[in-house]
Amino acid sequence: MSRVEKRKDDHLRLCAEEEVESRSGTLLDEVHLLHDALPELSLAEIDPSVEILGRRLAVPLMISGMTGGTERAKRCNRAFARAAQEAGLAMGVGSQRPMLESPELVSTYRVREVAPDVLLFANIGIVQARDSGPARVRELADAIEADAICLHLNAAQELVQDEGDRDFRGCLDTIATIVSRQTRPVIVKETGCGLAPRTLRRLAEAGVHWVDVAGAGGTSWPGVESFRGSDRQRLLGGHLHDWGVPTAASVVYARRAGLRTIASGGLRSPVDVLRALALGASLCGMALPFLRGFHEGGESGVVDTAAGLVEGVRALMLLAGVRRIGDVEKVPLVIGPQLRAWIGEGRGREVAPSFERTSAETTWKGSDGLH
Ligand SMILES: Cc1cc2nc3c(=O)[nH]c(=O)nc-3n(C[C@H](O)[C@H](O)[C@H](O)COP(=O)(O)O)c2cc1C
Repeated sequence: MSRVEKRKDDHLRLCAEEEVESRSGTLLDEVHLLHDALPELSLAEIDPSVEILGRRLAVPLMISGMTGGTERAKRCNRAFARAAQEAGLAMGVGSQRPMLESPELVSTYRVREVAPDVLLFANIGIVQARDSGPARVRELADAIEADAICLHLNAAQELVQDEGDRDFRGCLDTIATIVSRQTRPVIVKETGCGLAPRTLRRLAEAGVHWVDVAGAGGTSWPGVESFRGSDRQRLLGGHLHDWGVPTAASVVYARRAGLRTIASGGLRSPVDVLRALALGASLCGMALPFLRGFHEGGESGVVDTAAGLVEGVRALMLLAGVRRIGDVEKVPLVIGPQLRAWIGEGRGREVAPSFERTSAETTWKGSDGLH
């Protein structure tokens, strides 16, 4: 097994077994959707389905990109893919960096045979995209028949890793070039440290339409890396364990920047999914809960995790009094003081014209804010 392969398997094991989550929280628990005791709805008519990037999803939920490159990773990706196909979720693969050196590793990422209808995201780090060029990035997505490409940003993890990258110059230019040359949608994705307004502004100016905020509050990559490597790596990983912009704030910032938003980073329940949608996310992602489902119960553990989330989302939609996902953004909210400290008051006014909302919804937000 090569060093990179060992690292990949170490990551899977550490994430499944250790305390790798940020301790500072997502701040999603500061978002309270008001209960509707008189919903006047039947569960049978609740429809959480959405169409995103040309594919229909049963629920706006994805199994976030985690792995690839080893035999164990292949088993994970297959289980994630079968569960995503069965439950109607989207799915991402983990970084395809190992394929740049060893193209035959594509078999550990390919899932189309078992997931023909799934909205599938390719994945590569921005530094590798910069160094290998837009043509190679497209080849990576072609090789797995992905619908879209995630370019991931993970400066915190790289700085912690003994063998990690140290030079992050030229990444914004790379993003602009890739966005302008790819035929597939490009999603710029953090990996657990979130996205701040100044980052989002520059991404929007570079032509980016979609971000996955992967905010702070869930899996912490500095945290994961603090369980392995040299004393230096362990120390710096510990220092940076809780660094980042909480997921709830990142989602609001992304919507204010006018970007289509995937909410991920510490979403752990159907309530978190509803909260993120209410803040304006189009799609929600979870990584650790599905990995742990696999760790505990194999493929059926992933299927059960997905089914439980889908059932919970439908139940909560009824209790919030909404029949369709597009209406979740209209549910009255109470927002706690900690999240207010990050996002301020009256989000509605600052929301840029969105790519998909109706003018009626925009007017609603404009007049009432989030309350
Ligand atoms: C085991 C594991 C491996 C991951 N590998 C990648 C990766 O290769 N590329 C990437 O963009 N994100 C990767 N992530 C980050 C997730 O996609 C996600 O953004 C992040 O974990 C936050 O979600 P969570 O708190 O639900 O885990 C990984 C996460 C886990 C748990």
